Amino acid sequence: MSSLTKDFLARYAAESREEFEALLKELVEIPTVSSDPARKPDIARGAQVAADLIRRFGGEAQVYETSGNPIVHGKWGSDPDRPTITVYNHMDVQPASKETEPWRTEPFEFVKDGDKYRGRGTTDDKGPALAALFGARAAMKAGVPVNVRVLWEFEEEIGSPSFQEGITAHRDALATDSVIVSDTIWVSRGKPAAPAGLRGLQGLLFQLTTGETDQHSGVTGGAARNPIAELMQVVTACFDAKTGKVKIPGFYKDVVPPTKREIEDFKRCGFTVKGFMKDHEFRSIRSKDPVDIMKRIWAMPTFEIHGVIGGYQGPGVKTIVPPFAEVKVSCRLVPNQTGDKIAALVEKFVKSQNKDVVVKREHGLSPYGGLTTGPLADAVRRSMKFAFGKEPVFVREGGSIGAVLTMEQVLKAPVMFLGLSLPEHGYHAPNENFDWEQASGGMIAFAKYFEEIAGLGKGGHAAKKAEPAPKKKAAPKKAAPKKAAPKKAATKSKR
Ligand code: BES
Ligand code: MN
Ligand code: MN
Repeated sequence: MSSLTKDFLARYAAESREEFEALLKELVEIPTVSSDPARKPDIARGAQVAADLIRRFGGEAQVYETSGNPIVHGKWGSDPDRPTITVYNHMDVQPASKETEPWRTEPFEFVKDGDKYRGRGTTDDKGPALAALFGARAAMKAGVPVNVRVLWEFEEEIGSPSFQEGITAHRDALATDSVIVSDTIWVSRGKPAAPAGLRGLQGLLFQLTTGETDQHSGVTGGAARNPIAELMQVVTACFDAKTGKVKIPGFYKDVVPPTKREIEDFKRCGFTVKGFMKDHEFRSIRSKDPVDIMKRIWAMPTFEIHGVIGGYQGPGVKTIVPPFAEVKVSCRLVPNQTGDKIAALVEKFVKSQNKDVVVKREHGLSPYGGLTTGPLADAVRRSMKFAFGKEPVFVREGGSIGAVLTMEQVLKAPVMFLGLSLPEHGYHAPNENFDWEQASGGMIAFAKYFEEIAGLGKGGHAAKKAEPAPKKKAAPKKAAPKKAAPKKAATKSKR
């Protein structure tokens, strides 16, 4: 069978560079912000452009509407003797504003700055999506015997509320032997990583209304209740803002701490406190101990507040008492925790602190335990080593991707990861960027991954699917059942 060489793929990447940049520009300049209802038309346009892109690359494209945002599916080949691999990415982005955030360039203008590409969505997740697509094209052109699919979501950044409905309705058309997700980050440049797990997320809103309109604080202050302050009191009862320790009874009950083995992996993964501080532009953080920090960001649940609404926000002081306040909260979840259980604990606790506070739940995402052993994980190892010169470390990552567990369960296919983003690219931050080193390496890694999977053959590939994340017991060696999704994807797989 074909054997892709590094030279051949490096040349392919170099020759594709202008085309890649033009397409990334086209995608970044459509502000597909899923959290903003005013951007609905941009989401629709983004989906059409994405479908056209698939067609330009010689694939068949479908835009599947859902009760939320559409899902775009691309299809190349349907030889039943070849393995079918689906690449998942999301094409929606986080909000961005040059007025309120320190962007140095327009967020929805693609700016090429040497080897760097700036703009919202360059790294999360349009750049990686394109790199994977170019890699797939290289593999197909070289005759690698695989059927390729892409599955592009447009509401990942709001927790994928309609994704399950969407893929369930089209599960036959979306049939695949495995999925590869490119939406995660490395430990640092030169240190490839693949997630051994992702955290889940439960978003919540705390709201308190004590009146109708702003009132003079000289005339009413002292007697009037202050909803912002009451919510602050509730929040500080929920967690210690300095240490991050959550004080809600039962919050940590289901947490399975990382194993010794995982901690050893953490220690060897190349994480440094200095690098972390620099990549994220911190002045100080809650801990100085690297292992403690890694546990905090990858393996422990959190209680976070993202924003407070209420009161006067303009210059100087305006002497009013506000009638309403809202706190935007989320809890990151780790394997074995569930969003429903955590939301119920939080609601009960908040009510016990202040019965007038209304708690609203957002769509929750389950934590995920990834595969780190078996032929697919080895294919990821080899592809990354081939493209970037280093095998990836498999450590947990702290972010959440709602679609992952859903794909595993609905498509009954194993989900692997081949992320290309770096911490310094600024996920969700102002001045988000991507770069040619990661993009071109990504093309090479993806092309190689397809070849690796083709090498496993349809049978070997499907057999892999049968190998569930093993529990403690001896794993059954023989042809296992089709069902990949082990009850709790949350159970850690061993390596
Ligand atoms: N790509 C990230 C998820 C991610 C972050 C994976 C860091 C690995 C490391 C994804 O686009 C994301 O930001 N997800 C959101 C989901 C939420 C808004 C429902 C997240 O994690 O906050
Ligand atoms: Mn993402
Ligand atoms: Mn994101």
